Amino acid sequence: MLKEMNRREFLKTSAATGAVLMAGDVLRGGATVAHGSVKIPEVEKLVITVITDNYYDCLRPNYKVAKRYFIIPGTSIHSEHGLAYYIEAVVNGKPNAFMFDYGLDFHGVSRNMELLDIDVRRLEALGLSHGHFDHWGNLIALLKYNRAKIRKGIPLYVGEEAFSQRFAKLPAGPFDVSGMIDLEQLRRDEIESLGVAKISEVKDPTPIVPGAYLTGSIERVTEYEKGSPILLIKRGDKMEPDLFMGEHALVFNLKGKGLVVVSSCAHAGIVNTVKHARKMTGMEKVHAIIGGFHLSGAKPEVIQQTIADMKAISPEYIVPMHCTGFEAITAFQREMPGQFIINTAGTRYIFTT
Ligand SMILES: [Fe+2]
Ligand SMILES: [Fe+2]
Repeated sequence: MLKEMNRREFLKTSAATGAVLMAGDVLRGGATVAHGSVKIPEVEKLVITVITDNYYDCLRPNYKVAKRYFIIPGTSIHSEHGLAYYIEAVVNGKPNAFMFDYGLDFHGVSRNMELLDIDVRRLEALGLSHGHFDHWGNLIALLKYNRAKIRKGIPLYVGEEAFSQRFAKLPAGPFDVSGMIDLEQLRRDEIESLGVAKISEVKDPTPIVPGAYLTGSIERVTEYEKGSPILLIKRGDKMEPDLFMGEHALVFNLKGKGLVVVSSCAHAGIVNTVKHARKMTGMEKVHAIIGGFHLSGAKPEVIQQTIADMKAISPEYIVPMHCTGFEAITAFQREMPGQFIINTAGTRYIFTT
């Protein structure tokens, strides 16, 4: 999947990014939404299944709202550097099912879906958070091998630049590879040629199924969530810092309990994401925050500031996973022990009123 670029291409793109990266505080701004502009419908029940994630522990017991996949001899849940969700939002007694992100490895993710009894015939919609391979890598294979089962014309919601080619500029030293790494791109034409899903690009808050909203592009308001200087996007001939302006997360309104916010990588910043969810819905109370918080490799002061803001937001449950990173996950466990839940792949989060 990851390819190193040739030297000529690397020098050309390094020169281009060098100029842009010196531009400074590039992540302020972003999209804005009017306060309370989205009247988000209530859900009576919400079941979020984490199909795959970076970590699996078969000995982890059920805990509060988290129901674990209990191992059956001879089986194991597959984990990977990837994330995939299957979600059912129940409105007026009817469960509305969709997938958000697809992980990377077709065989591993498909096996997990089988073990977790996920039936793609139930899917009403598909969503993709952003254009990184660990979220779309399995999408085309999933559509291709389930084309007879998935509802024809199912909508696939994506944000801006979901199909752009992306790169990571890895520094020398900490990894076995360095330099410009090609993270590849999701191909719109490949999806369209399968004739299964109908792509819909959205920028504003949009319902994906009844009871579930995509945030649309996320407003940047915090001073310290500035993204990663090593992540790049190709626009025309130029390589530019990837600000993930098209990234979106999910928001639910759990009846009587408050908002449930589900992120993927939260390149936009997890605090920005939650603040955006609050602003668009006009609701302050946050019941749960689940997802990748992208704090792997973050400076300790950024992790501390994020935790301070999360304490102020005061959710009932916080579930940092995927790209949150070991240091930040353990810091959340230490500093918010009553609210923290460790994720393990295959866990179902069951929220009821
Ligand atoms: Fe990402
Ligand atoms: Fe990711």
